Order: sequence, then structure tokens, then C-alpha cells
Amino acid sequence: MFKKRHLVEPGDFTIEEMDRLFDLAEQIERDQGYLRESCRGNILATLFFEPSTRTRLSFESAMLRLGGACIGFSEPNSSSASKGENLADTIRTVSCYADIIVMRNPKEGAALLASRYATVPVINAGDGGHHHPTQTLTDLLTIRQLQGSIEGLTVGFCGDLKFGRTVHSLAKALSRYPDITMIFISPQELEAPNYITEGILKKAGVSYIETHSLEKVIADLNVLYMTRVQRERFFNEEDYIRLKDSYILNREKMKQARDDLIILHPLPRVNEIAPELDEDPRASYFKQAKYGMYVRMALLASMLGRC
Ligand code: CP
Repeated sequence: MFKKRHLVEPGDFTIEEMDRLFDLAEQIERDQGYLRESCRGNILATLFFEPSTRTRLSFESAMLRLGGACIGFSEPNSSSASKGENLADTIRTVSCYADIIVMRNPKEGAALLASRYATVPVINAGDGGHHHPTQTLTDLLTIRQLQGSIEGLTVGFCGDLKFGRTVHSLAKALSRYPDITMIFISPQELEAPNYITEGILKKAGVSYIETHSLEKVIADLNVLYMTRVQRERFFNEEDYIRLKDSYILNREKMKQARDDLIILHPLPRVNEIAPELDEDPRASYFKQAKYGMYVRMALLASMLGRC
């Protein structure tokens, strides 16, 4: 089902296929020995042209737990990209050494290009401000685990909705589930792109609103997806400094929220969630980071045809 395919954006897998991955990830969580050694003999290449903690390390941890091995680089200066090698040649070469490639690149569309030159499966670990589909698998699994279902929820996205690729990917994926309402909370300059709101949600008949006020809507939410302002995508530092603390979630604001709200964040966090909330039972972002490893184990084993 998954063998010899690429994962470039969230729409590459059907809902049924994602459910299979979530079932598998839940099985791995329940039984830590499940699928252990299933990828012995396989090699994962992690090619990170941009910094990462969770995505790279959870993929590498996933592969090691499955009994496979990892090669790769965590910043482009240690690869021949720094000598001018183009992406197509890098991917053709790494395809000779690895059975599957995970790549993060600052350029939108880089993962699609890589998938056209690779002779092994390519997984997009983030392409600029475009998509981050394995974060979406992580987010959906976390919602399913903690809310019991991915249907009929009101999901608030708060922060940098313009550059936040995890928001674009999750909104696109959620648009395929029934009875979802999305509330986009951002400063005017960081609103979600039109291709998401008008191009995907409106066309799919998804109910959504856009607002600048978190306080006005927080009581309505089942899921609050906080995001950091993406400094690395700004053209000037002044704009970043002006916008970076637009929303800071703290105990006071959470007084208005439902008891069964879950707070998610793809991380890294900067200032947008006060550390005083980390002990709040609704704060679910570190559980989310752990689910990311289980779902990546399920993904690697499935794409390598090992389960
Ligand atoms: N969520 C996420 O992509 O985190 P990293 O940038 O640390 O990989």
C-alpha cells in the first residue's frame, strides 16, 4: 500500500491510509517491542538543509528502534551542496546509498523536485513555508488519541499562519474530515494564505473564520494549535520584532478555555506559550512530540514494505 511511494504533501495519503498508520503507531505505543528489528538491513538518509530537533531526531530514533541504520547531514555546509552541487544530483547520489530519504529544505517545492529524481521513496520533512506532512501525521494522531476522534472539532490556529508550514499542512488535512470548524487567529500581516482559505477550505465547504483576537474565541475551541513567529522567513528584523509576541498564551487566558481543550504546538516554542502552562493537563505539546516518533516508526516500516 505505501511501498515505493513518496510523501510530499498531506494529500498524498487517503484518510483510510492515514488511519492505518495511526492504528500502527498506537500499536507500537502500546507494545514497545512491536516492529522492533523489522527494518534491519535498511538505511535511512536524513538530509537537513535547515535546522531541526524533533523531525530529524524522531526519524533517526524511529529507524534505530526499527533495527535500521541512519546516514545524513544536519546542515548543508557539511555536504557538497556547499560546493555548488544541485539538489537533483544530491538526491540521485543519496538514492545509491539509502533505501529511503527524509529531506528538509528551505525552498518551497524542493521535496517535489527531489521525488522526481530519487529512485527510493522521499519524505518531505518541511519545504520552506509550504508543507510538513509528517508533522501533520503527528498532529492528527495526537488529536485522535487525546480527543478520541478527528471529527466534529473546532480547531483554532494561532500565531504565524502565513509562514507556518505546519498550519498549512494541518488545515489542508483537516479539511477532509467531517464537521470541522477552523478559527484562524493572527495579526493581519500573518494571516493564512489565500490558497489555503479560499483555495482549499472554501472550495471544500469547510466552515472557518479569521480573527485577530484569541480572547474572543478561546472558549469555543476543542484544539488550540499555537505556533511561533517564523523569524527565518522574514525579510527584515524590525517586522519580526514588532510581531513576535503578538500572542502569549498564559494561565490568565486559559481561564476562559474549556476543560477538555488540548493545547498543541509543533515546537520549537519561543514566547508564545508561557512555561507556567506546562503543568496544565491541557498542555499536550510534549506528548505530541512523542507521538511524532511513533507515527514516524509506522511510516518508515510501511513505506519500506516491512509491515
Ligand atoms: N516540529 C518541527 O518540525 O520541529 P523541528 O523544527 O525541531 O524539527
